[in-house]
Amino acid sequence: MSFIEQIDKTRLPKHVAVIMDGNGRWAKKQGKDRLEGHSQGAVRAREIVDAANKIGVKYITLYAFSIENWQRPDSEVRGLMALLSKSIVSQFADLIKYNMRLLTIGDNSMLPADVREDIEDACAKSAQNTGLNVIIALSYGSRYEIVNAAKSLLKKYAAEPFDIDSLSEKDIADHLYTAQIPDPELLIRTSGEVRISNFLLWQISYSELYFTDVLWPDFGEEEFYKAIVDYQHRERRFGKTSQQISQ
Ligand code: FPP
Repeated sequence: MSFIEQIDKTRLPKHVAVIMDGNGRWAKKQGKDRLEGHSQGAVRAREIVDAANKIGVKYITLYAFSIENWQRPDSEVRGLMALLSKSIVSQFADLIKYNMRLLTIGDNSMLPADVREDIEDACAKSAQNTGLNVIIALSYGSRYEIVNAAKSLLKKYAAEPFDIDSLSEKDIADHLYTAQIPDPELLIRTSGEVRISNFLLWQISYSELYFTDVLWPDFGEEEFYKAIVDYQHRERRFGKTSQQISQ
């Protein structure tokens, strides 16, 4: 039985987050330039968005460019930026056709102006869509996001009396880029690396983690469904005992 047939549609994760890793190693193995790895990665990103849409996932977050990625060689950064713009512009018509909403998380002000405009334009034009939410993490760093949340809270309360002891988890969550987005139930990382790399640290507190050796440019639709099936075999406890869960 194929993996898609094994999926229980009544127990889907609402939000799947993905660390798309291994483009460089894939390219090296093929004797190709790193940018060709990223290009093939963009093809897979599209395929996985379609797969998520097909089974009824509501949110998918793709880690496309971390704040640390700005330190990569200039040529790779420029190539990745051009690829992101090109992918979003060329797929915009389908985004609208399938009623998908594009969102970004991260510090857009660091992006080159033309890339930022293309992305913000696609986000604005799809803002009213009600289908799959496609969230691109761009110039994103989780610690940076949390520091910014702390800054916004301090600024907000600088002018008015505030009971520090009333500060809650919700106050922090409401000041993250993901304020309007539910936490992911499932986080996938490809390429055999078993780490989180400053991605959604707050939001994945109770997520199931799925690691696979498959390099991102080889991570096709069936690999995605396999991860969903694996997730559905897990028992999520949120700190409770298994007895409490079965009651
Ligand atoms: C990690 O592989 C991947 C990235 C830094 C970029 C991810 C970007 C894409 C998949 C393309 C564009 C995406 C969208 C959403 C249009 P790596 O270069 O770190 O690989 P390595 O660890 O094997 O060197």
